[in-house]
Amino acid sequence: AVERTLSILKPDATRRNLTGKINAVFEEHGLRIVAQKRIQLTPATAGAFYAVHKERPFYNDLVSFMISGPVVVQVLEGENAVAKNRDVMGATDPKKAEAHTIRAKFAESIEANSVHGSDSLENAKNEIAFFFAGTEILP
Ligand code: CMP
Repeated sequence: AVERTLSILKPDATRRNLTGKINAVFEEHGLRIVAQKRIQLTPATAGAFYAVHKERPFYNDLVSFMISGPVVVQVLEGENAVAKNRDVMGATDPKKAEAHTIRAKFAESIEANSVHGSDSLENAKNEIAFFFAGTEILP
């Protein structure tokens, strides 16, 4: 089925001017960018977005990293978009990611791993609503 998923190009990607190269990978794989904006996250927004990881040892560093520069938040649409985006991103740890994936090609570390993507259809709905009004999504 056609799905939507929330994608974030992280500060390591904007810092290195990689947003176009990463978007090209999405489009090559049939994922359509139906909403996109470049924003600066605040400690409050980054902390709330990653609230599920609040108890994890990497949470504070993750929030600091996510506010260290602008991010690009996006809605990707396509057949099976949630799983497809996860395949295209590769494993969280770039050392474990398959060679053709975004994280293998571009990520700097397990934290500065260039992209975020929703991990389920239900989370995708919540994460999209966290950043976008319905009127901002233009298929
Ligand atoms: P993301 O898919 O955005 O979800 C949580 C983020 O935490 C993850 O990508 C990484 O950027 C970051 N992170 C840092 N350390 C770890 C870790 N040890 N395990 C998982 N995620 C980590």
